[in-house]
Order: sequence, then C-alpha cells, then structure tokens
Amino acid sequence: MATMKAVRIHSHGGPEVLKYEDVPMPNLNDDDVLVKVLAAGVNPVDWKIRQGYMEEMFSLPLIPGWDVAGIIEEKGKDVTSLEVGDSVYARPDIVRNGAYAQYIAVKASEVALKPETIDYIHAAAVPLAGLTAWQSLFDLAHLQAGQKILIHAAAGGVGHFAVQFAKWAGAHVIGTASANNHTFLKSIGAHETIDYNVTAFDDAVHDVDVVFDTMGGEVWQRSWKVLKKGGIMVSALRGPEAGGMDALNKLCAHVFVQPDADQLGEIAVLIDSGHVRPEIARVFLLHEAEKAHRQSEEGHTRGKIVLNVADE
Ligand SMILES: NC(=O)c1ccc[n+]([C@@H]2O[C@H](COP(=O)([O-])OP(=O)(O)OC[C@H]3O[C@@H](n4cnc5c(N)ncnc54)[C@H](OP(=O)(O)O)[C@@H]3O)[C@@H](O)[C@H]2O)c1
Repeated sequence: MATMKAVRIHSHGGPEVLKYEDVPMPNLNDDDVLVKVLAAGVNPVDWKIRQGYMEEMFSLPLIPGWDVAGIIEEKGKDVTSLEVGDSVYARPDIVRNGAYAQYIAVKASEVALKPETIDYIHAAAVPLAGLTAWQSLFDLAHLQAGQKILIHAAAGGVGHFAVQFAKWAGAHVIGTASANNHTFLKSIGAHETIDYNVTAFDDAVHDVDVVFDTMGGEVWQRSWKVLKKGGIMVSALRGPEAGGMDALNKLCAHVFVQPDADQLGEIAVLIDSGHVRPEIARVFLLHEAEKAHRQSEEGHTRGKIVLNVADE
C-alpha cells in the first residue's frame, strides 16, 4: 500500500496527541483532485477539534488542517475545471482528512488557483481565515463603503483579513488589539486602533454599523452597546440563538465558514492587485505541528501560523 507522511490524532487531548507517522495515501473520488501539499495553514479550529470539539462529526484517526496550498498531482475522471500541475489553494471540507500531510484529496469545486504573487506558505495562510472574514463582512453584514466597522482581535488570523477587506470596501475601520500590534494594524488599513488592555472599547466607540467579533463571551455581550440602531454584529463564536435586540432593530448573525472556490478566486485577485497580504507569524515544519498548536493556543498570533510541508 502506498503511504505518505502525515500528522494524525488517534485520541482527543493536548498537543502531544499529534503523531507524525506513515499513513495510507488518500482515496480519490471522481470529483476530487489529489493535491501535493506544499504548505498547510494552522487555525484555532485545528486544536479545538484535537481537544474534542464537535467530536461527533469526526472519526479517528484524523489528519487535521483545513487550509492547503500545493500542486495538483492527479484528478478524478469528472474534474474538468482544473488540470494536473495547477498551483492551487483551498479550504477543504472539514469532515474529511485535512492538510497536515504530504497529500490531500479535495473536491475540485472547493479548489481555486493560488494567487500568483505570493508563495505557497503565504497562500496556505489565506483560505479558512480569509473566507471567514469575507463571508462575515460581505455575505452576512453586507458591508458598504462609508460604513463604520469595529473588528475585534483585528491582528489575528481572521481579523487581519477582515481589516484589509473592510478597508478595500471603503469602510471606516476600527480594530482592537494589544498596543504592540497597532503599527501593524495601521499598516494594513485600520483607521483607528483600541488597546483592549487600556481602553474599554464600549467607552471609546459608538454608533458603528457593523461589529465583527471573533472573541465571543463578554466581548460579544458588550458589543451590542456600540452598534447603532439597525446595526449588525457578525460573530464567529456565538450560535444563531444569539438573536437580536429587537427594539433597536440590532441583529446578530453567526458565521460558520464554508468552502467557496469563487470567493477564493476573488480574494486571489485582491492579493495579486496588492490590496491584501497575508501576514505570517511563524512557520514550522510538518513534524513540528505540536509546537505550532502550542503557539496558536496562546491566542496572540499576529496573522497566521503555517506548516511548511515542502521541506519536510
Ligand atoms: N465560526 C467560524 O467559521 C470560524 C472561522 C474561523 C475562526 N473562528 C474562530 O474565531 C476565533 C479567532 O480565530 P483566529 O484565527 O483569528 O485566531 P487567532 O489568530 O489565534 O487570534 C489571535 C489574535 O487575537 C487577539 N486577541 C487576543 N485577546 C484579545 C482581546 N481580548 N481583544 C482583542 N484581541 C485579542 C490577539 O491580539 P494581541 O496579541 O494583540 O492580544 C491575536 O492577534 C477562534 O476562536 C476561531 O476558532 C471561527
């Protein structure tokens, strides 16, 4: 049986359950492409699933990692949109084995051509966080030019894409982060920054059209106050039961990011035209996934952590 190197979990638990090992090559469905993985993004959902989050959806052993950049090595007989040799990136279906591996089988409809102006490490930083920001700002909040948006955790994986998309869309962008990220936030387009360690954002900001919240909890709770009448909050953490504040016509929507090759194509255009750039905090080799998870779990990543699979 043909094998490849991959990182798998055989049980839920701490970072030490990530095992670097030889595993069978993925099976290819007729509508799949087989991608030779050159880089894989690391996201908080990876370690949440490792810990047992949504465990009913996954069978073990499981290869985590749902951000991939690489080259198509083979394609299923029904695939007409992509060719062997294409450089691609994707946020693959979360219920299948992920990208902490030398190869991954991905439905062709979830795969887009990689932006041409960035390398595979940077490309692997984009899909999951970029699509989350895109779907939150444009599909759910319908952000318009001239509107005011408050973006929490603006220096994080999702947040730093949201800042750049909102700026590109012509919104007035306010971002929360600790002080050491403020120069970075200004450099990617934030008009105002708030140091959450010093200033209560709900004292400093009022009448915003859109709040984008990737923190949840009390940040989510306090954010209602800063929304103007008729405003909308999009949250990556609270469920749809969040509802709204009907009297003031304030709404909350919940994002659960979906694969979308067309949107990845639009994001690639923004990257190649210089409007958006993924920020890389740290690169680890594939077999160092345990270290990558420990760093991500600290909750202070600027931009993204990526696994270099090409040089493994
Ligand atoms: N529902 C969905 O579809 C979906 C999709 C993607 C992500 N998510 C979730 O969204 C969350 C964020 O994801 P991510 O990838 O952006 O995480 P991340 O990259 O790990 O976020 C790290 C950032 O959070 C900032 N931060 C920490 N505490 C903060 C605070 N109190 N106020 C403001 N900023 C703070 C840090 O800035 P400082 O270093 O300056 O503190 C750091 O830049 C995760 O829980 C993830 O699971 C959900």
